[in-house]
Formats: sequence, structure tokens, C-alpha cells
Amino acid sequence: MARGLLAAAALLGFLQASSSFEVKDSSGKVCILADLTVAFSVEYKTNVQKEFVHFFLPQNASVDSQSSCGKDNASHPILVLDFGGGHSLSLNFSESADKYQVEELVFHYNLSDATLFPNSSTGGMKTVSHKSIIQAHMGTQYRCINSKHINMKNVNVTFSNVTLEAYLTNGTLSVNKTECAEDRVSTTTMVPTTPKQTTSQSPTTGPAPTSPPNPTVGKYNVTGPNGTCVLAYMGLQLNITYQQKDEKMGLDLLNFVPHNTTSSGRCDNTSALLNLTFEKTRVIFQFALNATAEKFFLQGVSVSTTLPSEAKNPKFEATNNSMSELRASVGNSYKCSSEENLQVTDQALVNVFNVQVQIFKIDGDKFGPVEECQLDENNMLIPIIVGAALAGLVLIVLIAYLIGRKRSHAGYQTI
Ligand SMILES: *[C@@H]1O[C@H](CO)[C@@H](O)[C@H](O)[C@H]1NC(C)=O
Ligand SMILES: *[C@@H]1O[C@H](CO)[C@@H](O)[C@H](O)[C@H]1NC(C)=O
Ligand SMILES: *[C@@H]1O[C@H](CO)[C@@H](O)[C@H](O)[C@H]1NC(C)=O
Ligand SMILES: *[C@@H]1O[C@H](CO)[C@@H](O)[C@H](O)[C@H]1NC(C)=O
Ligand SMILES: *[C@@H]1O[C@H](CO)[C@@H](O)[C@H](O)[C@H]1NC(C)=O
Ligand SMILES: *[C@@H]1O[C@H](CO)[C@@H](O)[C@H](O)[C@H]1NC(C)=O
Ligand SMILES: *[C@@H]1O[C@H](CO)[C@@H](O)[C@H](O)[C@H]1NC(C)=O
Ligand SMILES: *[C@@H]1O[C@H](CO)[C@@H](O)[C@H](O)[C@H]1NC(C)=O
Ligand SMILES: *[C@@H]1O[C@H](CO)[C@@H](O)[C@H](O)[C@H]1NC(C)=O
Ligand SMILES: *[C@@H]1O[C@H](CO)[C@@H](O)[C@H](O)[C@H]1NC(C)=O
Ligand SMILES: *[C@@H]1O[C@H](CO)[C@@H](O)[C@H](O)[C@H]1NC(C)=O
Ligand SMILES: *[C@@H]1O[C@H](CO)[C@@H](O)[C@H](O)[C@H]1NC(C)=O
Repeated sequence: MARGLLAAAALLGFLQASSSFEVKDSSGKVCILADLTVAFSVEYKTNVQKEFVHFFLPQNASVDSQSSCGKDNASHPILVLDFGGGHSLSLNFSESADKYQVEELVFHYNLSDATLFPNSSTGGMKTVSHKSIIQAHMGTQYRCINSKHINMKNVNVTFSNVTLEAYLTNGTLSVNKTECAEDRVSTTTMVPTTPKQTTSQSPTTGPAPTSPPNPTVGKYNVTGPNGTCVLAYMGLQLNITYQQKDEKMGLDLLNFVPHNTTSSGRCDNTSALLNLTFEKTRVIFQFALNATAEKFFLQGVSVSTTLPSEAKNPKFEATNNSMSELRASVGNSYKCSSEENLQVTDQALVNVFNVQVQIFKIDGDKFGPVEECQLDENNMLIPIIVGAALAGLVLIVLIAYLIGRKRSHAGYQTI
């Protein structure tokens, strides 16, 4: 119950506009900037029972005069935020080597404040604290969109949408960021205009990465000596798992944007190449002819791309030349509305969406008769079965009705 409410509070935290605070030194130079949403959950006693209250750090919280930029080694920077009837939240910073951190989080709350703690059986101030919650590289802003929960005795504090920097030298947030681990398990959805998306996979932290939208279907063709020899419509997505510098696994999901994809290729009598290049990423499809069976099929895929900078090795290449996919008779086209995952290597998947291809013999530059993929046929079976079942049901009801009518008719006659 409490967890559910807390989750709701955390969720609301995302809707809640975050508030900005700054701390200046005596000369007016800004040394701490903080923009954050903070949700509180506090357990307290009434005469009857235990109560949980949930509230946010209000937007009109004020920066307390105890806040300071610190003085060399003598004192540390501190941000103290006052709100409501005598409550305060402080972030005590410290630096070590090339990092700064929130060394301690302290929450003072006033149980005498009946607005937040109605019917509290005890009054007075309470204090809870937690050590080292946030750490970032010096000269970077700490950024964390996802929620960070801090559990203390009787109090849970949830930070979200945090932008924070201490030890500012320049009065403004640094350009470079330290992203929290929760965000690196990214939940940001991919927008077609910025199709590179990086996510780290780590089952213990944060929510699972959400699937990006399906890629837009592109129309590609290759002209050989005898006219069009490759006609391919498909949405193309790359899924690469890679090792990061920090030894975690990263995931690079990339949708090809058709109008920014260049295509080329070539054909001879028994093989055809379709070469698609989108930004720094290239996928080459190699089709082959099985002359005995009079079928074309996808025999090989090779992928080359540049991975995000977190990758241990940014240059990525993978090839598989022993595939047998997208198979159809020469003169026909292969079609699949279901997503197909073409395994290139353990690290690389090429996902194709709404694919229709035809290789070698293409009459009039148009697709020939369709050979539907097995996945689609299976998918089509379900509505057919459901439809048949429904029709059966209607028939049974109808028969039952007719029999019933006949019986009651017969019944009247005997009276
Ligand atoms: C995060 O904070 C920024 C700045 O206050 C705000 O514009 C943005 O909408 C917030 N995002 C979420 C998801 O709450
Ligand atoms: C804090 O969260 C824990 C679980 O994460 C929960 O058991 C506890 O009841 C919560 N406490 C408060 C005051 O919400
Ligand atoms: C802050 O806002 C709340 C309502 O949102 C109001 O009740 C309270 O008086 C305000 N406090 C200050 C110090 O302005
Ligand atoms: C602060 O500490 C550093 C070493 O950690 C020392 O070199 C420096 O003299 C100290 N400064 C003051 C004002 O104590
Ligand atoms: C301060 O930071 C801004 C933005 O990062 C940058 O454009 C500017 O050059 C910096 N100024 C100094 C004096 O470092
Ligand atoms: C940001 O980080 C990059 C890579 O670490 C570095 O080359 C660059 O100088 C940094 N930029 C600033 C403004 O500190
Ligand atoms: C694809 O077809 C269009 C029109 O039919 C043609 O202009 C274009 O050159 C073809 N592209 C290739 C690579 O053959
Ligand atoms: C990407 O590949 C990984 C590892 O093979 C897999 O777990 C994940 O489901 C794939 N995601 C998509 C969208 O294909
Ligand atoms: C994609 O193409 C559009 C227009 O054709 C162009 O404005 C845009 O910059 C391109 N995007 C990329 C990532 O190349
Ligand atoms: C082109 O057509 C000629 C004559 O039909 C045939 O001999 C040749 O093999 C064809 N070439 C290709 C690449 O299909
Ligand atoms: C694929 O196309 C790119 C340019 O579009 C070209 O540099 C590369 O050599 C081609 N690769 C093959 C195997 O045709
Ligand atoms: C060509 O197709 C036949 C019949 O389906 C199959 O037995 C044979 O292995 C295929 N050859 C190649 C090279 O795929």
C-alpha cells in the first residue's frame, strides 16, 4: 500500500514542475545550481494508528541563509531549502579528487505542522539523514531524469528530474554531464530525427529500456544489366549489443531513416547486392540464387557502424554469410508484415519490418505474386480461428432458438 502510494507520488513527481535553486557566495558568484523534483513519504503516529503522508518539495521552497559556498577546507558547500511549517532539506556537498558528491542529505521535519502531519501524537522536530547519494565528476552537471529513492527511518525521499552542479567556477551549468546510472538504462524513446539511441543493460537498476518506434519503410532498388534486379521495401532497424568502457553492456538501437539512406548495389546472374548507408552505418544485403530450386534468398548480411562514445571499441563490424532468409521463387516476391529478426552475430541483429523483396527477375519493375512469410500466415490463422469459432457460436444459438421455438409451439398445441 505504502509502496503503491509512493510509486504514485514518484509518478506525480514527473508531472510536478521541478524547482530551481541557487547558492551564491558573498561576492554574488553562483556556486551551486539545483533544479529538482523531490517527493517525500513520511510515516508518523497519531493516537489511533500509523499514518503515511506524501508531499512534494513545494516550488516556493526558499534557499535558507545557512546555505553557503563553503570556505576552502574549513567548510563545505551546502544547499538548505526551507518549506512549509518549519521543514528543511539540506544537501551537504564535498569534493574528492576529480569528483564532487552530496555527502549527506538531511531532512528536518516538524511534526507540529498540522498541515502536513494532522493529528500527530507527538510534536517537535525530527531529523533523518543519509550519506552519499549523488556523485558526479568535477566540472560536469549531474543529470538524473529517473527517480532515485532514498530510504531513511520513517522517511523516504524520491528525487527525480535532477539537474545539479556544485563547485561551479563559471556561474553556469557545465556543458558536460554526469548521467546517473538510472538514466543510462535509458527510457527515452527514439525520435526519427535523432535515431541513435544508447541504452545500458543492467537488470538491477531502473526500468527496462522501452522499444523504439518501428522504423519507416524505405523503398530501395538496384538496376542491373537487364533492368531492375533488386526491389526491396522495408523498415530497417539495427540492434547492437556492445561492451562499454565501464564493462557494462550497452545497446545501440538504430532506425534507418529512408530519406537519409542512400542505396546502391549490383547484380550478376546468381548474386545481388543491396548496399544501404545511413549516416555512419552501412548494411549490405547479399542475395543469392538457388538455381536448382529456382529461388532467391538472403544469403548474407554485413553491418558496419560507429558505436556511441561509451563503447570500448567504437568501430563495429559484423558479417554472416551463411543465412537463408527472405526466400521466394524467382519471379515472385517475398512479403512479411511481421517483424523479422535477422541474426548476424551474437552482438548484432538486423530487424526488418513490413518487408517485401524481389530479386533477379522483376517484370515491369513491379513486385510479382506474393509469397507470404510463415509468421504472417500464423498471425492470419488467429483471426480465422476466432472468426470460425464465432460463426459456430452464432449457428449453435440459432439452432437452439429454432428448436426452442418449435418445442414451445408443440407445447401450446397439447394444451
Ligand atoms: C524536468 O525539469 C525541466 C526544467 O524544470 C522541465 O522543463 C521538464 O519538463 C521536467 N521534465 C519532467 C519529465 O518532469
Ligand atoms: C519506504 O520504502 C520502503 C520500501 O522501499 C517501504 O517499506 C517503507 O514503508 C517506506 N517508508 C515510507 C515512510 O514511506
Ligand atoms: C507556498 O505555496 C503554498 C501553496 O502552494 C502556500 O500555502 C504557502 O503559503 C506558500 N509559502 C510561501 C512561503 O510563499
Ligand atoms: C586545504 O587542503 C589542502 C590539501 O588537502 C592544503 O594543501 C591546503 O593548504 C589547505 N588549505 C587550507 C586553507 O587549509
Ligand atoms: C562559462 O560557461 C559557458 C557555457 O558553458 C561558456 O560558453 C563560457 O565560455 C564559460 N566562460 C568561462 C569564463 O569559462
Ligand atoms: C567535455 O568532455 C570532453 C570529453 O571528456 C572534453 O574533451 C571537453 O573538453 C569537455 N568540455 C568541457 C567544456 O569541459
Ligand atoms: C530505382 O528506381 C528509380 C525509378 O524507377 C530510378 O530512378 C533509380 O535510379 C533506381 N535506383 C537504382 C539504385 O537502381
Ligand atoms: C536487441 O538485442 C538484445 C540482445 O540480443 C535483445 O535482448 C533485445 O530484445 C533486442 N531488442 C530489439 C528491439 O530488437
Ligand atoms: C535527413 O534529411 C533531411 C532532408 O532531406 C535533412 O534536413 C536532415 O538533416 C537529414 N538528417 C540527417 C540526420 O542526415
Ligand atoms: C541479361 O539478359 C541476358 C539475355 O536474356 C542473359 O543472358 C543475361 O544472363 C542476363 N543478365 C543478368 C545479370 O540477368
Ligand atoms: C556501399 O556503398 C558505399 C557508398 O554508398 C561504398 O563506399 C561501398 O564501397 C559500397 N560497398 C559495397 C560492398 O558495394
Ligand atoms: C537449393 O534448394 C534445394 C531444394 O530446396 C536444396 O536442397 C539446396 O540445398 C539448395 N541449395 C542451396 C545452395 O541453398
